[in-house]
Amino acid sequence: MPHPYVLLSAAVSLDGYLDDTGPERLLLSGPADFDRVDEVRASVDAILVGAGTIRADNPRLLVNSPVRRADRVAAGRPEYPLKVTVSGSGDLDPEANFWHTGGEKVVYTTEKGAERARAVGLAADVVPLGAELDWRQLLTHLHDVRGVRRLMVEGGGQIHTQLLRQGLADELQLVLAPLFVGEPGAPRLFGPGPYQGGRLRLVETRPVGDVVLMRYEPTAPGSGPLPSAADHHWLALACELAAACPPSRTAFSVGAVVVAADGTELARGHSREGDDPVVHAEEAALAKITPGDPRLASATVYSSLEPCARRASRPSPCARLILAAGVRRVVTAWREPDTFVAGADGSGVLAGGGAEVVVLAEFEGRAMAPNRHLVR
Ligand SMILES: NC(=O)c1ccc[n+]([C@@H]2O[C@H](COP(=O)([O-])OP(=O)(O)OC[C@H]3O[C@@H](n4cnc5c(N)ncnc54)[C@H](OP(=O)(O)O)[C@@H]3O)[C@@H](O)[C@H]2O)c1
Repeated sequence: MPHPYVLLSAAVSLDGYLDDTGPERLLLSGPADFDRVDEVRASVDAILVGAGTIRADNPRLLVNSPVRRADRVAAGRPEYPLKVTVSGSGDLDPEANFWHTGGEKVVYTTEKGAERARAVGLAADVVPLGAELDWRQLLTHLHDVRGVRRLMVEGGGQIHTQLLRQGLADELQLVLAPLFVGEPGAPRLFGPGPYQGGRLRLVETRPVGDVVLMRYEPTAPGSGPLPSAADHHWLALACELAAACPPSRTAFSVGAVVVAADGTELARGHSREGDDPVVHAEEAALAKITPGDPRLASATVYSSLEPCARRASRPSPCARLILAAGVRRVVTAWREPDTFVAGADGSGVLAGGGAEVVVLAEFEGRAMAPNRHLVR
């Protein structure tokens, strides 16, 4: 199910804390960075914080610049982004600033939490999501019902930790502030527990006044049928590779990337790569990896078009090559049309061989774009 683009935003001290233990909110950023945050807020459809942050900081979460608000209105958007909070208990102070400033508000909670939240008369739409709160369900609801396409998450630590661990964060915007907290009881950005192995991708560093902004993208593929935010990034790369193929009137343009479970790119390929006029993208990528590489068993193949089930140009179709390489997860954007092979079902071949096939249909247009001339 489509989700909004999820951007985690936080500031930490040099010793990794989000706040101190005092009653007042610790200001980690300076004026230049607060203005940058204001700009990011103005660019999104919704801002989410956990109930813990509302209780601790009593934040307003507004777009403060009148110019940015006017620009939003001129672009046909609400003056303020939707404000979203998450609470299992429903223990929320109806007098908190969150409810009485800015635009619309929504609370995602449990059945029990909804009873409590409604009883205190919160000025918000209260949405129960069952006995437990499920983040995928929440993001789907924001996307489908609230029309949210970009979501900024401003903490606190429990919220950031869950979204990152569940592979639901597209981006982390982390600001490092030049001060120490030094209190073991103070809240940290990320709690203990399992995270993706390997490394995130650093996409930007920028000094902002006396703090440094670092932007990272998670890279670890999802597992089984559940897509992760990183699956979207890798499939987008496969679609870019497809767009860069030498054009052909007699074969599809396809891009493929093979990624290890820890987010390491093992290889990439595209149709008609090098001097080979008939090589397929997945075939070209797999040929660059040493057979028997132990990382293949838990790797994911991203292919803009479903791997082929039959082909005239080579003895083994790509679905068979993937299975033979030991890969058991494939993410693709577009099922193969009948242009060259009637009833091609690479996904069926892969599933029959024990592989999980995830189709992210929201990328179909991008995968198809370099092949429009081949699709009736
Ligand atoms: N430096 C920064 O950038 C920054 C930004 C934001 C916050 N902060 C700091 O972070 C601290 C607060 O962080 P925190 O980790 O304590 O709180 P938090 O992450 O803001 O909120 C935690 C609360 O959210 C609800 N929640 C979280 N996951 C849930 C789930 N899966 N299902 C249902 N409810 C869920 C629960 O509310 P209920 O208890 O109501 O069930 C939980 O107690 C404060 O000190 C604040 O100053 C710092």
